Amino acid sequence: MATDATTYQWVKDGALGAGKMRYGADYNPEQWPREVWAEDVRLMREAGVNIVSLGIFSWALLEPREGEWDFDWLDDIIDLLHENGIDVDLATATASPPAWLTTKHPEVLPVTADGTILSPGGRQHWRPTSPIFREYALRLVRQLATRYADHPALVAWHIGNELGCHNLYDFSDDAARAFRIWLQEHYTSLDALNDVWGTAFWSQHYSEWDEILPPRVAAAQRNPGQQLDFQRFSSDAQRDHLRAEAAVLAELTPGVPRTTNFMVAQNIRDIDYPSWTGDVDFVSNDHYLRPGPRGRDDLSFWANLTGNIAEGRPWLLMEHATSAVNWREINPPKRPGELMRDALTHVAHGADGVCYFQWRQSRAGGERYHSGMVPHAGADSRVFRDVVALGAELQAIAPMTGAHREKARVAIAFDYISWWVSGRDSHPTELLRYDEEALSWYFALLDLGIRADVVPVDASFDDYDVVIAPMLHVVTDDLRGRLEQIVADGRHLITTYFSGTVDEYDRVWLGGYPGALRELVGLTVEEFVPLLAPEKLASGASATNWSERIIRLGDDVEVLDTYASGDLAGEPAVTRRRVGAGSATYVSADLGVEGVTGVLRSLSDIDALRGDERTAGGKLEIITRAGDGIRYEFFANRTDEVVTLTPTGARFGTDAGAPGATIEIQPREVVIVAEPAA
Ligand code: GAL
Repeated sequence: MATDATTYQWVKDGALGAGKMRYGADYNPEQWPREVWAEDVRLMREAGVNIVSLGIFSWALLEPREGEWDFDWLDDIIDLLHENGIDVDLATATASPPAWLTTKHPEVLPVTADGTILSPGGRQHWRPTSPIFREYALRLVRQLATRYADHPALVAWHIGNELGCHNLYDFSDDAARAFRIWLQEHYTSLDALNDVWGTAFWSQHYSEWDEILPPRVAAAQRNPGQQLDFQRFSSDAQRDHLRAEAAVLAELTPGVPRTTNFMVAQNIRDIDYPSWTGDVDFVSNDHYLRPGPRGRDDLSFWANLTGNIAEGRPWLLMEHATSAVNWREINPPKRPGELMRDALTHVAHGADGVCYFQWRQSRAGGERYHSGMVPHAGADSRVFRDVVALGAELQAIAPMTGAHREKARVAIAFDYISWWVSGRDSHPTELLRYDEEALSWYFALLDLGIRADVVPVDASFDDYDVVIAPMLHVVTDDLRGRLEQIVADGRHLITTYFSGTVDEYDRVWLGGYPGALRELVGLTVEEFVPLLAPEKLASGASATNWSERIIRLGDDVEVLDTYASGDLAGEPAVTRRRVGAGSATYVSADLGVEGVTGVLRSLSDIDALRGDERTAGGKLEIITRAGDGIRYEFFANRTDEVVTLTPTGARFGTDAGAPGATIEIQPREVVIVAEPAA
């Protein structure tokens, strides 16, 4: 999965030495007069902050005119932070180009699919493939790296910021040139490209590489192969930028670890992060709580996936919010207890550091209503008191840093490419949601008290007794072999509708759906039956959006549930093919959380699908980290009720207790219990 570009290296020890749980924020001192800086460091110390990300949006102040540098203010704040024991994750400051650059070189501005040139005035208004932008950006990186290489406060590099957050898709002429080069590297010949893109369709054949364009707005549906390759190329173009900055830093400051903040989250679909793991020394992630009843579980899902993108090694939660964000339609503040709960849930899934956007809530600018560690109300506030309490907790649990998350017996295979392709236009319905399907399975497992890992599809499945592959739409020959192996080993695969349908070029596998998986699941589907209205299953479950008419291929395929209404009434809806001790289960409809919970219940002969009684019927999520001979079990209360637990170990953290003592876990509380590893 990962490239070998770098080896894992955690944040340097810094002013306070090793063994700390990292705690801090994006810090934007340039938004404040210097008098405020003194108060900032005082409050940071009070809160136990030991790291800040600095300079993320500072380019225009560091280089106010082309080639004119002003580092004085940055020198001063870095020194002040260092004097106060606060380390610096220094940004390369390339996230938002200054006005002089885009005035002089408007040709660095990104272009949308319909030809609109994006104006400066927001942020990240640069083309990832612009040679001009790259040159200016790397010059800035070189200046910063040279100046701060030996500063003792520097413990990590923060490359760019959320690469691709706003400029992932650029359809400019620069992009067109770079796309052609990318294609030439991937396809040895135009014949090969014409073949896999199926350009015989609608007279789309190419005779010269220069005829190929990004998939700009067109008169009718665009070529799916071209769209998919442009998605891959766009994700890779951001990674190239990361690599270019990283190369300068590696040359000038080889001992300082480099990271960039990933956005492993439901609202960011189009970056193939598992392919970036090898390009950072340690993984960092940004995650913002999704409002509503499933927000906590959603957070757990993406934290879980981040931990597995980090290949089980500690990672840094680079950004989340103390309370409200300001960029959703409605932005409620966090409920009492949620600040601590969210932070510790990330720690449970392997984060050895918890940082926020941002330290001090802005007074002006587009994010003035986004929460910070120090809110508009000041330090005498609920948020800041919670921030201080979290700092104390992180300090108390610091002995667990470096502990690895223990694997579960069940895995959900997560595939970014299937996410992209299954949501394409020109499909049987526009209502399919890959992310929601994957989340439904995770939520159902949590509801049943079953621990699961969310793993990138290219990671090994060897350690798992059950692999759930929801809507695994894109299946290569290699992946098919890996899935077949699970069942051949006597283990269990569960997969769903619209899986196995296409190859890595979005070409349909012929002979009936689910194409590549037909023999493994022992059935075929001649036509998809997207639904105009929900239908019922015999079990009482509801099918929405999608159903399929299943033809079983053999007697070894059992029917677990049938359609009970609509055109498919009486036909199989959920099947299971047994192969020796193993099995392959197929779910042909979108059943939602309740429906898939029922499917999992019907598979309870599988030992790994029996819930852990200590979850009190799924009220708790249990996650384990282990290291240095100690197991740390996190019990996260998913409910608004008090849950009582009598563990064998002892409560760990600021409220440390005795082994075997009964613990009342408050609503939305996360309790950690430690005991010697067996
Ligand atoms: C992130 C970004 C931060 C800030 C934050 C607000 O996307 O990296 O700079 O904008 O969102 O939620």
